[in-house]
Amino acid sequence: MSQTITLENTEPQDVRIKAPAIDQQIEAIIKTEFKSAYVHSQSLLPKDVPNGSDPEGLKRLPESTRKRFDDAGIDISKGYPHVPNKKDIPIFLDEAFEIRNKEFPYIERGLNADPEKKALFGAAKQVINLTKKIGTEIVGLQLSDLNDKQKDELALLVAERVVTPRVPNLDGVIVIWQDYRFNTLTYKNNNYGNFGKFGGFGTQTWHTDLVHEFQPAGITHLHNDAIPELGGDTIWSSEYAAYDKLSPALQKFLDGKEAIYVSAHGYLDRDDPFSGPKKVERRHPIVRTHPATGWKALFVNRSMTKSIVGLEPPESDVILNYLFSVFEKNADIQVRFNWKSTKPGYGTSAIWDNRISIHSTVWDHEGLEPRHGTRVTSLAEVPFFDSKSKSQREALGLPLN
Ligand SMILES: [Fe+2]
Repeated sequence: MSQTITLENTEPQDVRIKAPAIDQQIEAIIKTEFKSAYVHSQSLLPKDVPNGSDPEGLKRLPESTRKRFDDAGIDISKGYPHVPNKKDIPIFLDEAFEIRNKEFPYIERGLNADPEKKALFGAAKQVINLTKKIGTEIVGLQLSDLNDKQKDELALLVAERVVTPRVPNLDGVIVIWQDYRFNTLTYKNNNYGNFGKFGGFGTQTWHTDLVHEFQPAGITHLHNDAIPELGGDTIWSSEYAAYDKLSPALQKFLDGKEAIYVSAHGYLDRDDPFSGPKKVERRHPIVRTHPATGWKALFVNRSMTKSIVGLEPPESDVILNYLFSVFEKNADIQVRFNWKSTKPGYGTSAIWDNRISIHSTVWDHEGLEPRHGTRVTSLAEVPFFDSKSKSQREALGLPLN
């Protein structure tokens, strides 16, 4: 028996049979037929990402991680708790863009802090500045024991020193498990990183986390509970110090300008789904003012800053590539941190501020030893540029030339 499907609205309502919209069909195909849980980016098309708890992942779980999960009471009876269910992951660009797409209240805790940080420093065994411009290590404190005053002072310390590695333990929620990803994703065609002949091992592309958000990432905590015996370091580079490296003329040119920032993951354009994954784009100031310090930061990174608003593409490319190189080539504005725990059997935590830093991971262990961690990222204020704000060197009274 044949059946007529009429898409035009000329028949009475009760006899029309509506075909599902094309985007609903595509969404259903992706969520039910593809093994992939998400589209990721143009060059990263995972075919075998598991869905929900993953028993296979559990088999490869590092021993120290398993112990940490057990100690924290995390249920791993059904598998490794890594991958969100496919139904919860947006397929289309407009859905992804709408996530957290309106302002929510943000309280800058660093503004409440005692500038001398007496409560925090007084409780620590040792406070060690790792380089002149970036990185301070605090010895002898448990994050979970800090009172509100000490937490405010820690927020200000991170805002000033950009990163505080080796702060002891807090539980995290986002998984950083590169070995796991290498088994499910391919980095072979990634043009950004320096991966070399090992196809996935080398140096991660410099980036800042979650710049495509309406209110991008602020203070971020990473706890690595499995790390290689040697290697697997993270490098951070300071956005305050990068801004201070520029000539006054270039600083003036960039002050008040905006750039386009893109997401790490790609999604389909509902109006043009067969053109492939596209990234969420967001516009932010290219020089932003940190609300706690009032200092200017050069808010760009190679992975996710796409273009400078108002410039022709070749002009934007030349300037952005120069700005990226300032971060990447100047070791005096970087700090490199080895995560090896000072206490055998335990992990190591670091806290950094994504508003004022970019970072990269060194995968020199070539996947031969496990590296696993969890990350918690807070989202901060809507980025702003205050034309009256100063650079770090200006504010600290350091020579400008
Ligand atoms: Fe990152």
